[in-house]
Amino acid sequence: MNQSNTKEVSLGHSYDGIQEYDNPLPGWWKWMFWGTIAFSPLYLMYYHNGTPGRSVADQYTEGVNENTRKQYAEIGDLQGDQATMVKFLKEPKWVGVGQAIFKANCVSCHGPEGGGNVGPNLCDDSFKHIKTLPDIVKVINEGVAGGAMPAWGNRFSHKNDAILVSIYVASLRGTNPSTGKAPDGSPIPAWPKD
Ligand code: HEC
Repeated sequence: MNQSNTKEVSLGHSYDGIQEYDNPLPGWWKWMFWGTIAFSPLYLMYYHNGTPGRSVADQYTEGVNENTRKQYAEIGDLQGDQATMVKFLKEPKWVGVGQAIFKANCVSCHGPEGGGNVGPNLCDDSFKHIKTLPDIVKVINEGVAGGAMPAWGNRFSHKNDAILVSIYVASLRGTNPSTGKAPDGSPIPAWPKD
């Protein structure tokens, strides 16, 4: 060993002619090692827990919400009346926004395709609490069955969310989910066309 920083202090261990020397890692290396370990909890706290900053997840949610608000500027504050719902049912872009809201909040109980799980099948013609399109908005905003179907009115960041997810629910009617629960409630008339 001819390296200048090698101290020729043998530890007296020798295996197959290979001798062990006492060459500790350089100080700067150890400082970096311990430094990164000391830094990691701060990093975790700041970026993952959001203390005291904002977590990456929060920043993402905020970004998504901001984007949605920009899109909502296009349609203003929707009313959950029949005419509005019939109109938006014909606009795939907004039904798609409703679908995204459904995927984020409703699939655990109603299944990924609305075929039902804990909650009822939303794809058939039978409903328990719904006769008209605006009834869907009411059920979603206020909940039913003592909270078994939770009230979403205060959970969504924008009032339009409840209306657009209702429009998506309305669009599920007549689709064939790969797994569907037996119908609940009783058959209701078809949605109005205009
Ligand atoms: C925690 C489980 C759960 C979640 C999450 C949930 N639901 Fe429900 N939902 C239910 C249950 C249970 C019922 C049936 C209540 C009853 O039997 O009266 C129901 C009923 C409904 C109904 C009325 C169906 C009918 O036959 O009248 C609609 C519409 C509905 N949910 C839509 C949604 C939407 C949209 C979301 C997401 C924003 C959602 N649900 C999230 C459990 C849930």
